[in-house]
Amino acid sequence: MAKNKINILVVFYSMTGNIAKLAKAVADGAKSSGDTEVRIRQVDELIPKDKWNDVMKKVKEELKDIPIATMDDLEWANGIAFGTPTRYGNMSAQMKNYIDKTGGLWQRGALENKVAGVFTSTSTQHGGQETTIITSMVPLFHLGMIIVGVPYSEQRLFSMDPVSGGSPYGASSVSGPAADRSPTDNDLEIAKTLGKRIAEITKKVT
Ligand SMILES: Cc1cc2nc3c(=O)[nH]c(=O)nc-3n(C[C@H](O)[C@H](O)[C@H](O)COP(=O)(O)O)c2cc1C
Repeated sequence: MAKNKINILVVFYSMTGNIAKLAKAVADGAKSSGDTEVRIRQVDELIPKDKWNDVMKKVKEELKDIPIATMDDLEWANGIAFGTPTRYGNMSAQMKNYIDKTGGLWQRGALENKVAGVFTSTSTQHGGQETTIITSMVPLFHLGMIIVGVPYSEQRLFSMDPVSGGSPYGASSVSGPAADRSPTDNDLEIAKTLGKRIAEITKKVT
């Protein structure tokens, strides 16, 4: 790693593609801060293949070149963005499964002082984005990570468009009842801001 160069991991779970789009924007934001190497990784699927519907099959095909996240990716990173769809107001089991494998890292304090942020997506406007992001942060505190969100200097948080994602807690999008409403430009820009902020704060503390 060159002097002052930092490593950012964007690790996500996505079943119908929305979080994957936000993940790319978070990664672009991190890269835009310069001197930053970015890895995008997806966590293991827990739903057996024979239960995948057509939408899920299509999304899995689109994401097939993104490697599965390992514990080494967490160790490699100086800053980490975690992306998970909302599941009943909380993170997905797939992301929890990944985080629950960090026991060895926790014992060694290996993730302490790494910078972390969270992004999510819901179907409905008030379906739990903020609860998902905040409850996702709880294990990250246990791991000793330094948590960041998106401050209101990101003016897009003031958007009064009828359906907007993004909050001081992190980036997000509203995908609609069929999960087919992609993140808006506003949502993607807020996701970039989150990625850039994680990278910039990582540089300050690394
Ligand atoms: C089991 C399950 C639980 C969900 N829980 C919520 C929820 O609490 N609130 C909500 O608005 N959407 C909920 N959703 C919808 C997803 O969070 C939403 O479609 C999200 O945009 C999917 O992200 P993805 O396209 O990256 O998979 C749920 C979906 C599933 C399958």
